[in-house]
Amino acid sequence: MKKYKVNLRDRSYYIYIEPGIKNSLPSLLSEYNNGQKWIIISQYKLMELFGYDLKSNLISSGFDCSYITLPNGEAAKSINEYNRAISQMIDLGCDRKTCILSLGGGVVGDVSGFIASSFMRGIKYFQIPTTLLSMVDSSIGGKTGINIDRGKNLIGAIYQPKGVFIDQNFLVTLSQEEVVSGLGEIIKYGAILDKEFFEKISLWVQDIPAFPFSEAIEICCKLKADIVSKDEFDNGMRGILNFGHTIGHALELKFGFNKLRHGEAVAFGMLCAGYVSFKLKKLDEKQFNVLEKLIRTLPLPKLKKINSEELLSLIKRDKKFVKGKLKFIILNKIGEATISQNVDNLILKESFKLL
Ligand code: GLY
Repeated sequence: MKKYKVNLRDRSYYIYIEPGIKNSLPSLLSEYNNGQKWIIISQYKLMELFGYDLKSNLISSGFDCSYITLPNGEAAKSINEYNRAISQMIDLGCDRKTCILSLGGGVVGDVSGFIASSFMRGIKYFQIPTTLLSMVDSSIGGKTGINIDRGKNLIGAIYQPKGVFIDQNFLVTLSQEEVVSGLGEIIKYGAILDKEFFEKISLWVQDIPAFPFSEAIEICCKLKADIVSKDEFDNGMRGILNFGHTIGHALELKFGFNKLRHGEAVAFGMLCAGYVSFKLKKLDEKQFNVLEKLIRTLPLPKLKKINSEELLSLIKRDKKFVKGKLKFIILNKIGEATISQNVDNLILKESFKLL
């Protein structure tokens, strides 16, 4: 079993990675079981695939375990669903000692984490990510949140889990779109932090079915654990993890979360952000071409024509727009990123032509 520490003093925790680890959860969680209630938060399909088995295994090992489900997709991140889940927890007799097990992808993790951060002023939770994207990114680092109609993740908290359990066996049920979405975030880690990893990914994506997911997951988890350990509250270098996200979030808003997956939107966003980096004379042309080639290798959906003014106005809704200035992540070179406040509308609009 691989194990990486997110080093945050009294909030430190481990990311455990092993195929089949879901079957070891009763023993891995036993030190936290003091007879309190455990709630699996998941979705219907995931409960059928994995959740009911997990619940039975936990009950057989002496855990008092129930579950609640969230709807599929971004709809789960609404205030209404948050309210419904909290009400269900009250009806199930949950209290301040209750522990949450978040079984699902990024959406389930974000909502479960936010419920954990706020239920009775905060209870323990654990992440059990089931998608490639959540294994390499969203389950680590404690970013939790829900949406309101003005935008994504506008209500939330940074609230760390007590552990992250990554079981690569969950990946066998993923659709190609989900895998590609995860690859978008994997490419991000190489582009911003690790040139050697970027070069490996460029080779691996030539044959996606043979992609060495375990190796890539381990590298991403280690990189993410290091960044979160240095900048838990996103006041500095953690910001570079948003490479491709400013334009990516705007594309998600424009096309709808169900049409364009998060990692796919990030892949398009990285293409534009790479171009911006080149235009600002940070990334050289050769390296921009290498980045573009890699992103264009992914089987991404074809985007409908985009009105650049509309996309710009969506970008300005982003949380990274602070005091009228956009904090935009650019590449100095492959493997090194920085935050720039010098990105003007003209360059952004020019970059949209790549979409
Ligand atoms: N997904 C970006 C972060 O955790 O900071």
